Amino acid sequence: MNLNVVILAAGQGKRMHSEIPKVLHLLAGKPLLEHVIQTATQLVSSEALIVVHGQKGEIPQFFNKLKIQWVLQNEPLGTGHALQCALPYITSDHVLILYGDVPLITAAILQELITQTPKNSLGMITAEFPEPRGLGRILRDSSNHIIKIIEDKDATAAQKNISEINSGIYFIPLAFLKKWLPAINNQNVQKEYYLTDIVALAANESIPIYSIQLERWQEVLSVNDCLQLSFVERFYQTNKAQQLMQQGVTFSDPNRFDLRGELHIGQDVLIDINVILEGQITIGNHCSIGANVLLRNTELKDYVQVKPNSIIDGAIIAEHCVIGPFARIRPETVIAAESHIGNFVEIKKSKIGYKTKINHLSYIGDSVVGNQVNIGAGTITCNYDGVNKHQTHIGDHAFIGSNTELIAPVTIGEGATIGAGSTITKDAPPYALTLARVPQCTIQNWKNKKKE
Ligand code: UD1
Ligand code: CA
Repeated sequence: MNLNVVILAAGQGKRMHSEIPKVLHLLAGKPLLEHVIQTATQLVSSEALIVVHGQKGEIPQFFNKLKIQWVLQNEPLGTGHALQCALPYITSDHVLILYGDVPLITAAILQELITQTPKNSLGMITAEFPEPRGLGRILRDSSNHIIKIIEDKDATAAQKNISEINSGIYFIPLAFLKKWLPAINNQNVQKEYYLTDIVALAANESIPIYSIQLERWQEVLSVNDCLQLSFVERFYQTNKAQQLMQQGVTFSDPNRFDLRGELHIGQDVLIDINVILEGQITIGNHCSIGANVLLRNTELKDYVQVKPNSIIDGAIIAEHCVIGPFARIRPETVIAAESHIGNFVEIKKSKIGYKTKINHLSYIGDSVVGNQVNIGAGTITCNYDGVNKHQTHIGDHAFIGSNTELIAPVTIGEGATIGAGSTITKDAPPYALTLARVPQCTIQNWKNKKKE
């Protein structure tokens, strides 16, 4: 079908009490408008037309990577006026109208609206809301045909009792829009040009109005204030958790889970409470994620255990690794299979070999650590000289005693042992003990000074 999608996003969003344009507020870590754009791109190959406020350049700037045709509405005079601004850019004979603040609508429902709306009709989506306050209500005649939308602010007390609301989503032939938009006036309480007036215009001309009444009414929840934003977020998250449970993921509590990105997940995964997954996440089979864990742009292979209160960002963790509790793994880290990274260990931009143990209180940065290495508690790679970062290399089977400082650039040979408490400034040879600390001595008959 020859179709343009128009997304309205130029409203002021006054009720958000925010300097950030409403459609840039985040739902599941992504701007509201981006959700709508992504849904639109599932339906049409052409660029979406997005109506934004003329003076604020920040919305187009934000989406500069996406292919979009921006339409400026210099003054937000209402949804009808917004569409009037888009009219010259519409090239197809049908138009799908979406709102930037109604982010949960699915491509499947929109596809149904597009295919089911009969020729030369107006298609729209409505829903029964338990709490319809603030929304446009659907007026129907005695034979149950839709005849008008009345905005909340213009509604009588009786009309306010109607629970069927207007979602704001329409599918309409361009010819009708061209005819009806100029007929809309702003004689209403808000002095705005209401797009919703096209419904009465259609009814007056006896143009058939086809409507889908959603069972899952939450899919047309809109965001006008922070409270509504929180409802939309929770509905989104509950849905995601339900989908994951249907795939076999076990949650300690699905209400305490947040996905802010794309997740690929295997079988027999356990997710404890307050886990946040951000960006592109892959979790293999038989993994367990402890409480209060944040994973961002990370891949866990099979049988990885992430213990509570750990943060893993931009890393690849191989099979059977155990991470945490209280570990922090930073970007560009790759950890080979069966390694253990323990509590209060920070690892940055490093390769850690197979079966290596870094169990307590260490900082490993810009390092290449071999296989079966043991790094003692309190070991620090001193990778930064105040200007440049330097690399540390630790060979296979090396043993680094506790409280060692490795001043990079430095190489610890294969099988080397470093005595605890050493400050290593030169390369340490393989299969030898290297010590760099003041030898212990005892001074006999030492008396502490005493106060008079
Ligand atoms: C609108 C509908 C209402 C419906 C509700 C559903 C109208 C008159 N009312 O009300 O029937 O129940 O949505 O969520 O349409 N916008 C512009 N330019 C403007 C004004 C608004 O682009 O001049 C955009 C906004 O950015 C927003 C959308 O249009 O994305 C809806 O505007 P909003 O002011 O939020 O309308 P509601 O009062 O929620
Ligand atoms: Ca709204």
